[in-house]
Amino acid sequence: MHISNLTRISHSLIFILCVGILGACNQENKPRTSEGQQMTQEDQELNGVDRYTYARPHDAVITHLDLDIKVNFVNKKITGKASFQINNKTGVDKIFFDTKHIDIERVTIGTEEEKTEFALVGFREFLGRKLEISILPSTEVVNIYYSTRPEAMALQWLSPQQTVEKNYPFLYTQSEPTYARSWIPTQDSPGIRFTYNARVEVPKELMAVMSASNPQEKNADGIYEFEMKQPIPGYLIALAVGDFSFKSTGPRSGVYAEASVVDAAAQEFGELEEMIDAVEKLYGPYRWERYDLIVLPPSFPFGGMENPRLTFATPTIIAGDRSLVSVVAHELSHSWSGNLVTSATWNDFWINEGFTVYLERRIMEELYGASYTRMLRLIGYQDLEGTIELMGETSMDTHLKLQLDGRDPDEALTDIAYEKGALFLQVVEEAVGRERWDEYLKNYFDKFAFQSMSTEKFLDHMRETLMNGDADLAKQINIDAWVYGPGLPDNCPVVKSERFELIDEAVSKWVAGENAEALGAKEWYTHEWLHFLRHLPNEISTERMAELDQSFNLSNSQNSEIIAAWFIHVINNNYEVVYDKLEAFLVKVGRRKFLAPLYKELAKTEANKKIGIAIYKKARTNYHQISTVTIDGILGWEDARYLMQE
Ligand code: BES
Ligand code: ZN
Repeated sequence: MHISNLTRISHSLIFILCVGILGACNQENKPRTSEGQQMTQEDQELNGVDRYTYARPHDAVITHLDLDIKVNFVNKKITGKASFQINNKTGVDKIFFDTKHIDIERVTIGTEEEKTEFALVGFREFLGRKLEISILPSTEVVNIYYSTRPEAMALQWLSPQQTVEKNYPFLYTQSEPTYARSWIPTQDSPGIRFTYNARVEVPKELMAVMSASNPQEKNADGIYEFEMKQPIPGYLIALAVGDFSFKSTGPRSGVYAEASVVDAAAQEFGELEEMIDAVEKLYGPYRWERYDLIVLPPSFPFGGMENPRLTFATPTIIAGDRSLVSVVAHELSHSWSGNLVTSATWNDFWINEGFTVYLERRIMEELYGASYTRMLRLIGYQDLEGTIELMGETSMDTHLKLQLDGRDPDEALTDIAYEKGALFLQVVEEAVGRERWDEYLKNYFDKFAFQSMSTEKFLDHMRETLMNGDADLAKQINIDAWVYGPGLPDNCPVVKSERFELIDEAVSKWVAGENAEALGAKEWYTHEWLHFLRHLPNEISTERMAELDQSFNLSNSQNSEIIAAWFIHVINNNYEVVYDKLEAFLVKVGRRKFLAPLYKELAKTEANKKIGIAIYKKARTNYHQISTVTIDGILGWEDARYLMQE
């Protein structure tokens, strides 16, 4: 099954939590601060475009970063110096940076490092603190000496116990959407790009890799140097430090992973080169030289993160049969949609993710064929329908163009950007024909390479160059309904899968009493299993749960997607004999798209909620903060702790 789908479920869950529990989402189109108050004029002028940065790039903007840092696992701090080359466009006497959970020791300007005044001003929940630095009209370099705090959102410091090998600690960063500022004081906006060089000092036994040119072997002194020659926005800066090694998968690709994972990873992702070739053939050259992938410890909160040159990935996509590699196709596709042509603001998130899901499916079609890809599409479509139903058909959060205002930008992460975005592009493809559309897209990636793209800029460009004033075509596509309207417009493509129709028949037979063994399931592929599990009735007797489990060994499945879908039924039907396996899964895996639906299912009854809280108590330290924020909400963790008298 396609990973994005369950992602969508957890994303919707997060959304619903926000609406229902925190009451933080407002449907009104009025600018608000993160605290919910209406924004002042000054607030609104913060940047003019991106509400999540203090930077004023039209006045003074960063262009290059020289990072020189030391990674200290003992006190869980990154300490060092971030030197920025800046462009003081309007000759202002102050430049503004974003910081969160960062201590600033001193700031200097110029290569001569003259001392200058600085101040950390205010605090806003989703922005952090503004770093104001006094500069001169002639200033070209700003040097910031800083250290991070242990609670920095981007950083997960893992103990040896939380790695696969259990010998050494591990650190990784997650900068998207607005967390780069928690490990580097920077102008952290998707619309601000910079190149970077870095020198990173780590304990000698460990190796460091970044979203940049990377070493393939450990060195003796623990000092690593990196270069990112292409300008990237702050959310794409990334670092991982640990005891891992490299294995090549082809002339320009390979995988990094801990010792006992690296062979399996290289085998699972053995099609990287073919995938790169497939996109290049359609949409023009891969512009980042190498494409490597690092498999992180299981706590990584996402399926994948498209850090340029080095995708970060969860180990839960290593199924042994390459059946979950659409995640890799997705992250690779971001090398065009997202990393090359980048959403101007988080309100334009679909410009990253909708295009990427569209590209991902084109790769999957190229490698695995149309019938296979129809299964992926249909699963995505079903999730999207579920999300729209949960959000409400008229919700403004079901528009492609979002209005996040001062809300948590994490709320942009719904199926809407991904699946509705991809469907919209499919509508355009079908209206103009694949050949013309592919030609258009190839040109789009070339023309706007290394630039920001707002929804409006894309639509204008498409109207001008693809539609050439063809009124019938415009009517047929109905752009406004897709982009600025709720739910799914009338011309939404019908998604069908003949393979899933056979699975539907199997479900009916089983429901009518047929033996599990007689369903012909031995031949099923992962996505067919997922369709089967997702369409079983909610209520299943203990006998029939046992029959399914004994026939298919579901509770011991090595496929994370299958076992997670099975556990939903396990919880819903109180099939307690395998609760120990459920617990083992929840303690080990930190990927939010699995955690959120499972804890949510547990929270449905008093008895299961108690069990869920007890499991969470053991598991919570293994999770990244991105996941704990969500699960705390689902379980009412603060209240729960109080009840347990901690
Ligand atoms: N860029 C996203 C992950 C992300 C989005 C992180 C927004 C933080 C904020 C990544 O490309 C992604 O979409 N990952 C998905 C998998 C994909 C196959 C849909 C995920 O991790 O679930
Ligand atoms: Zn993505």
